[in-house]
Amino acid sequence: ASPVVAIVGATGAVGVELLGCLEARGFPLSRLKLLASPRSAGKTMHFRGKDIGVEALDDNSFEGVDIALFSAGSGISKRYAAAAVKAGAVVVDNSSAFRMDPEVPLVVPEVNAAALAQHRGIVANPNCVAAIATVALAPLHRAHPIRRLQAATYQAASGAGAAAMEELRLSTAASLQGESFEPKVLPHPYAFNLFSHNAEMDEASGYNGEETKVIAETRRILGAAELPIGITCIRVPVLRAHAMALTVEFDEVVSVEEARRLLEAAPGLRLVDDRARNHFPMPSEASGQDDVLVGRLRTDLGDPSGRSLAMFVAGDQLLKGAALNAVQIAERLLSGR
Ligand code: A2P
Repeated sequence: ASPVVAIVGATGAVGVELLGCLEARGFPLSRLKLLASPRSAGKTMHFRGKDIGVEALDDNSFEGVDIALFSAGSGISKRYAAAAVKAGAVVVDNSSAFRMDPEVPLVVPEVNAAALAQHRGIVANPNCVAAIATVALAPLHRAHPIRRLQAATYQAASGAGAAAMEELRLSTAASLQGESFEPKVLPHPYAFNLFSHNAEMDEASGYNGEETKVIAETRRILGAAELPIGITCIRVPVLRAHAMALTVEFDEVVSVEEARRLLEAAPGLRLVDDRARNHFPMPSEASGQDDVLVGRLRTDLGDPSGRSLAMFVAGDQLLKGAALNAVQIAERLLSGR
């Protein structure tokens, strides 16, 4: 029989996309259960031509549920994932709660689907930057081990949730009207501005929590525990697609032509690399797309040895960076059972 699927955090920015992905991909489910905070109980959401009521999450929400897609923050995951597993569900968790737990696989299906076999009831869905970056890095890393990675990100509002997306819209409108706007969700003015990622800063190291997550998770997904990674994460006034500049050092010289061939042949990626037209990956073209866009491929002039390539990547934070990857994991869980 087709599984019963629950979405925890169905009303959130990622939750809405989870519904969309399940519908668009024709996910074989017999029933969909929508869970959120008591504030949303009684609301309805549209799925496959029907309205489904949203229920308040509690310990008994998971009775009869086979797959539970969690996207309501790590506090909710830590509090309720065990209840879901106890009820017999497999949890695909979009929060950071279990990503570094050695007993919980951290999976990007194009990169390390084999890790899924080790799950004990919970599978972690990676941080959005780690998921998008590893789709582009893995095909290169498989052919030529990466020995060092340098990254700078340009991250959209969606990563901070639906309220942050709304703050970007409202503050931009206010700014265009010449009105003042007091930020409530993000720590700094967002309209016509950018700022260092709003994750918690570690004062001793100078790295914020987003950067630390991307480093640890990229290593884990690529299976490269010691990979040196330098990174700067920046929030930019874009609604829903992240972009990133990646500079990759290999053990040997890798030509742009070979890298292009490897990336072109890889699943989940689309090459956008038109030098003549100055057309490269952009958040506007990555938004709403399943594929991660990769381009701006060139030999990095910052490495005199010639062993480094630079590239630019854009991917939909809400899709490959969250909901799509979670649904792809759920699809693999089904095909493996
Ligand atoms: P709600 O809409 O009822 O607040 P986002 O990442 O866009 O901020 O969304 C967060 C999601 O997590 C929303 O669906 C939100 O539901 C849900 N959520 C927040 N707090 C709770 C809670 N205590 N129990 C269940 N769901 C929650």
